[in-house]
Amino acid sequence: MNNILNIGIFGYGTVGEGLAHVLKNSEGIKSQIKKVCVRTKNKERNGIPQSIITYNADDILKNKDIDLVAELIDDDNEAYRIVKQALINKKNVVSANKKMLAQHLQELIKLQKKHEVSLIYEASSCGSIPIIRNLEEYYDNDLIQSLSGIMNGSSNYILSKIFNENTEYSKALKDAQKLGFAETDPSSDVEGYDTLYKLIILTVHAFGVFIKSDEVFNTGISNLKAYDIKIAKQKGFKIRLIGQSTKLDDSKINLHVCPKFVDSKDQSYNVEDHYNGISINGKFYDNQFMYGKGAGAHPTGSAVLSDISALEYNYKYEYKKLNLNSNLEHSNNLRLHIYISFTNFDQIKNFNFIEINEQFKSSEHNYIIGKINLTELIKHKHIIEKEKLFIATI
Ligand code: HSE
Repeated sequence: MNNILNIGIFGYGTVGEGLAHVLKNSEGIKSQIKKVCVRTKNKERNGIPQSIITYNADDILKNKDIDLVAELIDDDNEAYRIVKQALINKKNVVSANKKMLAQHLQELIKLQKKHEVSLIYEASSCGSIPIIRNLEEYYDNDLIQSLSGIMNGSSNYILSKIFNENTEYSKALKDAQKLGFAETDPSSDVEGYDTLYKLIILTVHAFGVFIKSDEVFNTGISNLKAYDIKIAKQKGFKIRLIGQSTKLDDSKINLHVCPKFVDSKDQSYNVEDHYNGISINGKFYDNQFMYGKGAGAHPTGSAVLSDISALEYNYKYEYKKLNLNSNLEHSNNLRLHIYISFTNFDQIKNFNFIEINEQFKSSEHNYIIGKINLTELIKHKHIIEKEKLFIATI
């Protein structure tokens, strides 16, 4: 490898520009941006000279001077094609595209091995928190029992603004977009898909299994109503959107994404704004918690920078867990304690609760707090979506 790492960047949106800025301010990194490939012509781009901009992917993918491809676009299909071709062309790749990785990681890991290059993606999950590198290096044993937490900065920002400043949901969402936290299609943030993709990636490193996104229950904060906030506040809770991956026994694992009512003893209670927080529970060390900025140009750009720096010494993920836990299967047979709100009882008449602990009925609002199996929620997911029911675990 050359003394200086020559980088080709795909995409110059929030993360690309953030990377250019942090790279400029990191004297220790022996890297330079050679080319930046973008889609939209005639757009002003700060922080890079016009001369390195190209609209032709081959100017990077086939460029012999470029050692490293940073894939920072938001179109997952295009990102997949770029990453695949870059690996085949023997270039190391840094990617931030969680949806693409969650869908294609298994194949891409094989490709990077075959072509003896490295694909790393710290920036894909939880912004600036070095969670993947820690799972790889420190938690490289089979002691982890569960991994859970706030993995989406936008929805956490929205929840903070609503709870702490009484901001309207739509205004908080618009602000999250303006600040560069939200995805181009923010439904991915607020409906829990972004969290789901990150959870799938982290599960590969924490437990050594590839779980398909359509096997995992996810619901987000888009159905949250002022009434739910009032109830949560009355009970001394805050609401957080949590992704959770739990080993149920030696052969079963469950992943789900759902808002959660958290009290002040919960570590995520004090995680506000666009911060993320991840709890790792292990057999002999109980609980450990990682906290940091989960979205935005500079936090995510810093994670990309850290990967670039790691590639200066040929860092590769080893995926040790893939061999350790290969017999783990996904199961949704899990009892959950939930809060569910609805406007009339007909909406939930087919939901089979194991027990009902609290029930509130009025002409406008109703809720139930009770225990239900996750398989029931999956069975009625179409109703949850159609009727816009808000669910939170407790
Ligand atoms: N939209 C994402 C979030 C960006 O809000 O967390 C960082 O992955």
